[in-house]
Amino acid sequence: MKLTKEEQDMLDGKLGEGIQKAMEILVALGEIYGARDMVPITSSQVSGVSYKNLGDAGLEFLQDWAAKGARVIVPTTLNPAGADIENWKALGISEEFAKKQKEVVDAYVSMGITPSCTCAPYMIGNAPKYGDHIAWSESSAVSYENSVMGARTNREGGPSALAAAIAGCTPRYGLHLDANRKASLVVNVECELKDHADYGALGYIIGKRAGTKVPYFYLEKNKKVLSDQLRTLGATMAAAGSVALYHVDGVTPEAKRYNMVLSYAERITVKDLKEGYDALDSDAKDIDYVAIGCPHASLDELREIAALLKGKKVKSAVWITTARKIKDNAGPLVEEIEKSGALVVADTCMIVAPIEELGYKTMATNAGKAACYAPSHCKLSTRYGPLKKCIDAAVSGRWE
Ligand code: F3S
Repeated sequence: MKLTKEEQDMLDGKLGEGIQKAMEILVALGEIYGARDMVPITSSQVSGVSYKNLGDAGLEFLQDWAAKGARVIVPTTLNPAGADIENWKALGISEEFAKKQKEVVDAYVSMGITPSCTCAPYMIGNAPKYGDHIAWSESSAVSYENSVMGARTNREGGPSALAAAIAGCTPRYGLHLDANRKASLVVNVECELKDHADYGALGYIIGKRAGTKVPYFYLEKNKKVLSDQLRTLGATMAAAGSVALYHVDGVTPEAKRYNMVLSYAERITVKDLKEGYDALDSDAKDIDYVAIGCPHASLDELREIAALLKGKKVKSAVWITTARKIKDNAGPLVEEIEKSGALVVADTCMIVAPIEELGYKTMATNAGKAACYAPSHCKLSTRYGPLKKCIDAAVSGRWE
């Protein structure tokens, strides 16, 4: 790779061991993917935060890197942790887990990272602009930034996003290049998409077909598409496949701006969503856990949930997961939701928290990504459907 003098100095260890380690990771990645040089980044977002996934080996890796003097030089935020950092007791999480989780977050904080612990940092101030080069690692956020905001990031791993944050640059390959942002799969959606869960079911169907292709959607019957619906679509495509960028005709910025479809792109038509619902749903009846907010819930979603829970009491455990800053800014909505017995949970989510240890067996959710991962990552049977149905299940304890 062609490095600038400063990048070469970093690699040679002239700016310290912490930066040298970061540059070694980035150069190795660049060489694997055939990057010619590095591109400066304006923002980073780091996954690999939950102690459930990191364990002691991951924690020691971070502490060691921090001890070598590693510090981030661009605005950098963290993915969800394994526990609500302030309110872990209310979730039933053990003191031992919470203590280890805090050590992980402290290691990141010592490197200068903002401990915002959310998969939706674009809602709370880490919001890159159109055309910015960034290094993000949460797959749903990668999809949102590339597709809805028009920023440019590959789907980084936790260590490579952290390395980029420390060095301030990332190898220029993949989705940093114009050529790789063109659509390679055209999707005509003939059915109407009524609920967020419909976007998740569509995301599952296309994620399975697309793999790493770039879909270009024509949503003929759905002229008004909400940003929360796009978040669900992108998150589920990233979970069911490896989609990191998509375009929606007349909606997303690059679809509007360029002719983004390759002439040889494959074309498919989606007539209904049955395949997606069948794959994400099960036949469980008793619901002991309802989880909403994947990706982390927006204020609009909190409003909708509060309205549905008004005057009701829940039988199942209910987590509404969101960013702490959204929770802090939600005013009376949190109290309105929690009057029902549901919890508004910050910093964590239904997948990266140690759910197995909390004893839940069957989860209801309206989130396609959570429904993809819950059976394998959390050993939960999963019911999948619209928000109203999930709230009804929370109240009755049954999926009817
Ligand atoms: Fe976020 Fe957890 Fe879903 S990290 S996208 S809420 S699986």
